[in-house]
Amino acid sequence: LPSHYTLPSGDKIPSVALGVWQAKPNEVGAAVETALRAGYRHIDEAWIYRNEAEVGKALKNSGVPREDVWITSKLWNAFHAPEDVESALDDSLTKLGTDYLDLYLIHWPLARKDGQPYDKDLTENPYPTWQKLEEMVEKGKVRNIGVSNFNVRRLENLTANPLKITPAVNQVEINYWFPQPDLIKWAKEHDLLLEAYSPLGGTGKVGDTLNVPEIKEIAEELGMTPAQVVISWHVQRGTVVLPKSVTPARVIENLQVRALPDALFEKLEKAATSHKPYPRLNPSKGWGIDFDIFD
Ligand code: A2P
Repeated sequence: LPSHYTLPSGDKIPSVALGVWQAKPNEVGAAVETALRAGYRHIDEAWIYRNEAEVGKALKNSGVPREDVWITSKLWNAFHAPEDVESALDDSLTKLGTDYLDLYLIHWPLARKDGQPYDKDLTENPYPTWQKLEEMVEKGKVRNIGVSNFNVRRLENLTANPLKITPAVNQVEINYWFPQPDLIKWAKEHDLLLEAYSPLGGTGKVGDTLNVPEIKEIAEELGMTPAQVVISWHVQRGTVVLPKSVTPARVIENLQVRALPDALFEKLEKAATSHKPYPRLNPSKGWGIDFDIFD
């Protein structure tokens, strides 16, 4: 399996990252240190996870040189206005204890300051936000920029502008229950790297994923755990994979992946893409917005 993918900038992004969404305070730092000791060189963060400071401390404590670790963070919805982007990024940089990010993403296609209605223009056309991200690359605060939770319509809408830098990645939910084969095909055709969040199935579905008969059978046949089979499948599909765990044994387990033989890969691909679809995470209602964020 590829240990890295090469982005348009030439930078090499490690294919397996530690995800830290929903990793609790006083747990996440230890998980990051365990991960770095186990050989992870990619941490997937976001301002809104509210654990950047603890992760930053763990990065320092680990003794692993900054330049050896790939750090991603994400611009929160409240800071899409061009005048807010740099200070939001600076806050993430300070908390993470670094002067640059390897990758900075627009977290959601929604521009909304706290306590206000959303900004319709900037939500529909995030080009002004994007231009500010391009400026952050020019300033050296960020090496690569991308988006998250964008559908094809929004990607095409953004890239119709005269971009200096095109999005390097789109981070989206991809797992056994929501396998997104069409988006994967589209991304390959457009040279866009996808990053799979909730790769083991997301909160509440992980147990179901690890109990899928096909996954259990493949695991048994190859002497792998079900989680390793699923993580391997993601990389084999050509995406970055971001499994979250704060359990040391699982953190270590999740990095030990290898290619599934073609026939077994196809068996899992078929099982994942032929069951009835299961709804993805969709915060639109919870955020009280009058449109579906994925439309
Ligand atoms: P924990 O963090 O308590 O170890 P996803 O990345 O798809 O959102 O899945 C994250 C969830 O899966 C977390 O609840 C995590 O639990 C659990 N998890 C992570 N790795 C494994 C594993 N190898 N085996 C079983 N559960 C796992």
